[in-house]
This record gives sequence, C-alpha cells and structure tokens, in this order.
Amino acid sequence: MRLPERQLAVLEAASATDERTVVEIAAETGLKPETVTGAAFDLRDEGLLTVTEAETETLSLTDEGREYAADGLPEVRLYRAGLALDADDDPVSMGRVIGEADLDGPAVDIALSNFARKGFGQIDSGELVVDTDADPDADSEAAALAALAADETPEVDDAVIDRLDSRGLVSVEESTTRSVLLTDDGVDALMGGVEATETVSEVTPELLASGEWRDVEFSEYNVEADAPTARGGKTHVLRRTADRVKDVLVGMGFQEMEGPHADSDFWINDCLFMPQDHPARTHWDRFALDVDPMDEIPEELIRRVERAHREGWGEDGDGYHSPWSEEFAREVALRGHTTSLSMRYLSGIAGAELEPPQRYFSVEKVYRNDTLDPTHLLEFFQIEGWVMAENLSVRDLMGTFEEFYRQFGITDIRFKPHYNPYTEPSFELFGEHPETGEEIEIGNSGVFREEVTGPLGVDCDVMAWGLALERLAMLTTGAEDIRDLHGTLADIDFLRNAEVSY
Ligand code: PHE
Repeated sequence: MRLPERQLAVLEAASATDERTVVEIAAETGLKPETVTGAAFDLRDEGLLTVTEAETETLSLTDEGREYAADGLPEVRLYRAGLALDADDDPVSMGRVIGEADLDGPAVDIALSNFARKGFGQIDSGELVVDTDADPDADSEAAALAALAADETPEVDDAVIDRLDSRGLVSVEESTTRSVLLTDDGVDALMGGVEATETVSEVTPELLASGEWRDVEFSEYNVEADAPTARGGKTHVLRRTADRVKDVLVGMGFQEMEGPHADSDFWINDCLFMPQDHPARTHWDRFALDVDPMDEIPEELIRRVERAHREGWGEDGDGYHSPWSEEFAREVALRGHTTSLSMRYLSGIAGAELEPPQRYFSVEKVYRNDTLDPTHLLEFFQIEGWVMAENLSVRDLMGTFEEFYRQFGITDIRFKPHYNPYTEPSFELFGEHPETGEEIEIGNSGVFREEVTGPLGVDCDVMAWGLALERLAMLTTGAEDIRDLHGTLADIDFLRNAEVSY
C-alpha cells in the first residue's frame, strides 16, 4: 500500500490500543498540528483510523486571580479584619476595618459588594458587623482559586467558575482535542507494509509523456496560502481630477483652449498689463529660455499693448509712464500661468471668432521658480477659465465657482478681496482642508481691466480665473502635502489607496 508521506507518518505514530492526540503526534513527527489533523481525517476516510473529538475547557488564573490566590479574596480579608477588631460584638467603623484589611483602590468596592453577597455580615451607616456563623474558610471561590494556583483542577460547581469568570479572576478557553486510534484495517495496513508515495506539486510535460502521472500523488492546493498582492494599473488621482474638471466645465458650456508651454513675455505678461519692471517678471521668478525671440506676434496688437502700458486705455487709466521694451516682450520663458492662453484666445490669434457670450477653459501645466513646500510645486496644473459676456458682476464670478466646486462636494469656499495688475475687482479663493481644517488658497480670479480687454479688441466684460488643480485634489483626497501627489517625492501608497468619488 502506498500513502502520501505525511499520512504515513501519522499512521505510524498512531496506536491501536491507546488514543493519541494530534498534539502528541505533531510533537513526535515534527509535523504541524493542522497537517496532522488533515492527514488524520484523510486516513479516517480510508478507514485506517478513527478520530474522536473532545471539547475541553482550560481554566487559568488572570493576574488579578493570581493576586487574590496569594493574598486572599478582598471580601475574605475584610471579614477577617472585622473579626480581629471584634466587629461581631461592636460595630466597627468601615475606615478602621479597611485599614486593618490593608485594602485600597478598587479592592475596597470589590470587598464590600462580595462581603454583602456572601452574607459575611452587614454594613450600615458606615459601620461593619461580621456574622460569626459565616465560614470564609469554606468559600468555594477561594478554594477554586487556590486549586488553580496549585495547578490542580478545581472541584467546584460550574456556577462558581462562571462567577470567577465574570469577576475577571479566571479565564476560560475552549478548545477541541482530537485523538486517533488505529482501526483493524489500519493495523493490517501497517503489518502489510506501507510505503510513501512521491508527491508532486507540478505537472510537467515529462510526467504526462511518460505516463508516470498515473502513479504519483499530487500535493493538495493550499487555498489559504499567502499570495503576492497583485495591483492593477489605475489612473493617477491627479489625472482623474483633471478629467473630472474638464467634464464639469464642458458640462457648464466651456470650450477647451490649448497653446504653448514656452511663450513670449508678451502673451504671458504684457497683454495682462503687467508692468515690465514687476517683480514677477525678473529672472528670480520665471524660467527664462535661451532661445530666439518670438516674432509671430501681430504688429498692430503690439502697438496697442504698448500704448496701454505707456498711456493707459479707456477713460480713467493713464498707464505706467515707464519704459516699455518690445524686445523684452518678445523674449521666451516657460509660462508662469495659463492666462497666456486666455490672452491668445481673446485676441483672436488662436483662431476663434469671438462674439459674446463665450466660455473657455484649460487644465494645463505652469512653471514657477517657487520654493518647494507642502503647498507649492515648481510645476503644477492650473485650471484656467474665462467668461466673456455683457454686464458681468462679482455675483456671476462667485456663482460660477460655487457651481464648479459643488461638483466636487466642496460647498464652503471663501472669497477674499485681492490685487492683480490685470483684474479689477480681484478675488482669491480659499477652501478648508478636510484633514487639517486649515484654510488653503485654491485660486485667484477677477474681471479683466479695460487695459487688458481694450488692446485685445474686446469691448464687453470678461471674468477670469486660475485655480490650482493640485489644491483641489488636496481637498478631495485629504493629501496634506502637495508633494505626495506628484513629483519625485510622491507617496506611492497614498496614490495607490487614494479614494475619490469621481
Ligand atoms: N493668473 C492668475 C494666477 O496665476 C490667475 C488669474 C487668471 C487671475 C485670470 C485673474 C484672472 O494666479
């Protein structure tokens, strides 16, 4: 007869006369108890042995139980202290008895309640009287504790054990003990000589071709074995946020703009009525590129923008009256905002015939020479947008943002008055971080000044904004550091597990 190795080991360890437990056989064979149990059931199915199961309760003392086994139960100590103070004749004040019994903390309450329950005496108006008929020496709870402390089986009713269990003095663990006994067939098999079959864990072409597969024993699948975690690809949370932003804006009637990452200062700054000596235009803040100046800018537009800077535009403004260099305007840098795209589209150079009303947006990368910190990256995505229409008001601007952020479950944005050289009025937007509760800036907005719209040839209102995509993602994912989201320090675990509902 042939049996798989572990079944053979269990069969050889079993006896026909004495029941042997799985634990004993495991110790003897060096197999794991669960392997022995599995093999024992297989052998039982073959009729080679029987398996009996017994439910056993193992009692053990808790730390508190062990303490009382050594020092006495608090109620017994209280009784003995009462006797020592002659509290059978004369009631004795509780304070004295407790002191005599050397009880403190929670042991006092434990002593009092059990003293009363066991009929050891009375406690009345702060005085104690012991009942001399009571016999704490015969206390079954104390006896059970003593037996357990001496590694003996307590000879008491189950009710006593239950009480000790509910007092937290013993712990009761239930377990199943399995024992095996060889059947006559088992004995015969052993006498006839059993050999171990070879177990094979994988079918090979050789096994199949030679026909040997017929004689080998295949090891069982362990469906509970740990398997490597398989992670499927998923869309980056920032990309999902960007896609959702696009869907929302398209749903609100916006069209998408596109345009160059490296652009002339003319489109990035001059069209926006940013004075050429503005600090943001120095080499500290922008990434200047050492390339040829941009020449394909409409000549007439350059003259109009120059005029706005030198003399102003419209009724009130009178410009900066400072030097304005066309050469500087044609220099190329990485865009620090995508408002350069708005300028291109509003001027008509991007090809669109623009009659109000119009709505445009982009979700594109911008570059700033900022210092990296939890809310700043050197490259990030801006959600640019503008609406061109007659008679726009601040309410239109606020209403648009409320509608937009509501789509992301954000209903508590705040507006603060702000200053931009190119908008009047201007507002910064703030949102509350879901984890830290801090207010974080999420965008900047306003209504373009006449000095911006006039030279571009637009003669109605244009409200516009730049919102930070990463800051929106911080609010929706709870990321506390923008660097967790993208860049070289991105937190892979966070990105794997980040949940967003869009
Ligand atoms: N360009 C601004 C920024 O980057 C955003 C903005 C765009 C503000 C349009 C007003 C109008 O912060």
